Amino acid sequence: MNRQNCLAKILVSLLAAAACLSAHAGERPGKGGPLNPSAIYHNYCSVCHGDRGDGNSRAKNSLVPPPRDFTRAGELSRDTMLTIVTHGKPGTAMTAWKTQLDSNEIVAVVDYIRSTFMQISLDPKLQRGRTVFAQNCMVCHGDHGQGAPSSLGLIPPRDFTTPQARTELTRERMLNSVTNGRPNTAMAGFAGRLPASDIEAAVDYIRAALMLPATSRISGTSANGRGGQLTSTDGMRQGFQNGLTGDPGKGAKTFMANCSTCHGVKGDGKGPRAYFINPKPRDFTDRSFRFAFNRPAIYTAVHDGRLGAEMPAWSKVLNDQEIADVSEYVFRRFAQPGNSGRK
Ligand code: HEC
Ligand code: HEC
Ligand code: HEC
Repeated sequence: MNRQNCLAKILVSLLAAAACLSAHAGERPGKGGPLNPSAIYHNYCSVCHGDRGDGNSRAKNSLVPPPRDFTRAGELSRDTMLTIVTHGKPGTAMTAWKTQLDSNEIVAVVDYIRSTFMQISLDPKLQRGRTVFAQNCMVCHGDHGQGAPSSLGLIPPRDFTTPQARTELTRERMLNSVTNGRPNTAMAGFAGRLPASDIEAAVDYIRAALMLPATSRISGTSANGRGGQLTSTDGMRQGFQNGLTGDPGKGAKTFMANCSTCHGVKGDGKGPRAYFINPKPRDFTDRSFRFAFNRPAIYTAVHDGRLGAEMPAWSKVLNDQEIADVSEYVFRRFAQPGNSGRK
């Protein structure tokens, strides 16, 4: 074997080991509970295929062929994917997963990849969005949505790839900003220049392809995690992303029934189940919680759960209104500036 070949082999085993270790560092998601396909993806696959499924990962430049970009894999059939994930792809860094994942987990992660990342190449509207974005927006927003360094103006274009953008920019807000523009910035309205359907397509493309999936901040690969570190009082006044209004009274009941076993009746993370759990449930009375979590961040945390921790994704159990209620309760009691429920 020549030297380069040999180095490549070593690298592949290191990456596989990294994927394996990170998967086993915490509680293994999916075992003993409902399957959590996004956790499987982020623990086993994202190290190579990237947080956004676009093949953009630390491994990318060192593997030949590079990991597949799922956002441009329209022709890849579900059956082919199941076979490759189960048995591996000879001659590439894609190893067989059948020894680490059972068949239900393999089906779940493949369907997750198809519905989360491949929808861009499967859905004509998102493909249109990609074209509109490339022709009208990329010059300022950059090809990965991170903002082009050369773009003009005192206020830089929004970086769509941060956890903060994910929590702050609702679809409605984005549609409005692109249609009408943002006053006193280089972001002009596109109302007269693009049909409404193109504006919508571009926004949906940004949300699907460029913004972090709502959960990936948890995988530990996106640097600053934790709901976007909101320090401004503006962030603290923000409402829920889907326009819902939470009823804190109802939320209190949900909290006592569903959350206090881990987070404690007082929110201090010392509920009866906490003893058995690692990492420990969040202590809502700690300052770090207050500074990092506004309504959208709490809602997202409750809705999606925390990968690799025993914080369930409550979207499987509670409806959106119930999640808003309990999030409102947690926000008012523990996060809102000037309240009394904390130490
Ligand atoms: C060590 C890096 C690495 C890891 C970890 C990894 N992959 Fe891959 N994957 C690759 C490479 C490299 C290819 C081959 C790309 C090609 O042939 O062009 C690939 C190909 C694939 C393909 C087939 C794409 C095609 O066009 O043939 C699927 C499906 C896939 N991976 C899914 C997964 C899933 C699911 C996981 C997690 C359980 C995973 N991969 C983990 C590197 C990796
Ligand atoms: C001439 C440069 C430029 C172009 C072209 C441009 N943008 Fe922007 N965009 C900006 C700037 C600057 C901001 C930041 C405005 C702010 O912070 O208020 C921004 C912000 C945004 C925001 C966030 C607004 C908010 O509510 O905070 C969205 C969404 C957006 N742009 C989408 C698009 C889309 C879609 C296109 C193409 C159809 C586009 N932009 C074209 C410069 C540009
Ligand atoms: C089985 C135990 C358990 C239950 C039940 C539970 N949580 Fe959690 N929760 C956790 C753990 C563990 C964490 C993660 C702590 C960490 O990663 O630092 C967490 C974190 C959180 C966070 C912060 C997310 C973050 O990024 O740190 C919020 C908000 C939250 N939980 C709200 C709730 C609400 C609301 C309920 C009830 C609907 C609930 N939890 C029920 C265990 C639980």
